[in-house]
Amino acid sequence: MPLLEVDDVVVQFGGVTAVDHAGFVAEAGRITGLIGPNGAGKTTCFNVISGLQKPTRGAVRFQGRSVTRLPVNRRARRGMGRTFQRLEAFGSLSVRDNVRVARDIHRGLRGLVRPATADVDGLLERVGIAAYADERADSIPTGTARLLELARCLAGDPTLLLLDEPSSGLDESETEAFGRLLTELAAEGRGILMVEHDMDLVMSVCDDLHVLDFGAVIASGPPAEIRANPLVQQAYLGYSDDGADAADHTRTDLPPVEATLTIPAVRT
Ligand SMILES: Nc1ncnc2c1ncn2[C@@H]1O[C@H](COP(=O)(O)OP(=O)(O)OP(=O)(O)O)[C@@H](O)[C@H]1O
Ligand SMILES: [Mg+2]
Repeated sequence: MPLLEVDDVVVQFGGVTAVDHAGFVAEAGRITGLIGPNGAGKTTCFNVISGLQKPTRGAVRFQGRSVTRLPVNRRARRGMGRTFQRLEAFGSLSVRDNVRVARDIHRGLRGLVRPATADVDGLLERVGIAAYADERADSIPTGTARLLELARCLAGDPTLLLLDEPSSGLDESETEAFGRLLTELAAEGRGILMVEHDMDLVMSVCDDLHVLDFGAVIASGPPAEIRANPLVQQAYLGYSDDGADAADHTRTDLPPVEATLTIPAVRT
């Protein structure tokens, strides 16, 4: 049984089909990449999985049970953690306090039945930002803020991590360290589903890939197979082996919409 199953999901925004009968899985202990051109529907899929977006049709199953009708907080309580493409940290709090708040939210979500005992400074060490612990979150570089997002996500001890463009803003050596950390997290048995544009990172750390184009999954498989797939080369990687120019699949029919995301209030 896969950790996460996305089954025939459709999302329509007015006349735009953002996700078009998409189906894919993510397994525990593996790093799964969800890739595709800008506007392909990757973030919308993440919103459906985490509960921020109700699908027009289709189902999401987590650990074999449907979560399609569950709100965000109930999915989080079951072990889904996510980071956002647009950073969501509290700017006026320190880096350490941001992780502390995230940990306490998870503690509240679980009603102290399974208290999150994450060691906040240990998490900062783990993601490599301990040196910034006392800095305000709005004063740190973007790459550091991405790692803070990851630490906040890990504070809930998630079984599944949904990471939306986690490496953007990281420099080369930070990206390498980040790749190693992802591999460690998967080795602990966690499932990781990652939207990522850095193809070097994707090809080096992912065990499985799913490619979205105009909302539909056009290919699924291991990285080597995906890289060699002519359909993928045309649609996404921007070239094909026969030298023909790839069609520009970036959606231009609508301007990108900045989704307004709210963190659910949690009573502790
Ligand atoms: N709330 C919304 N209302 C209307 N249209 C939306 C909304 N959210 C996304 N869309 C549209 O749905 C399509 C998919 O968007 P989505 O953000 O999921 O793509 P993406 O693959 O994450 O792109 P990127 O790589 O640029 O982050 C786009 O055409 C986008 O403009
Ligand atoms: Mg996106």
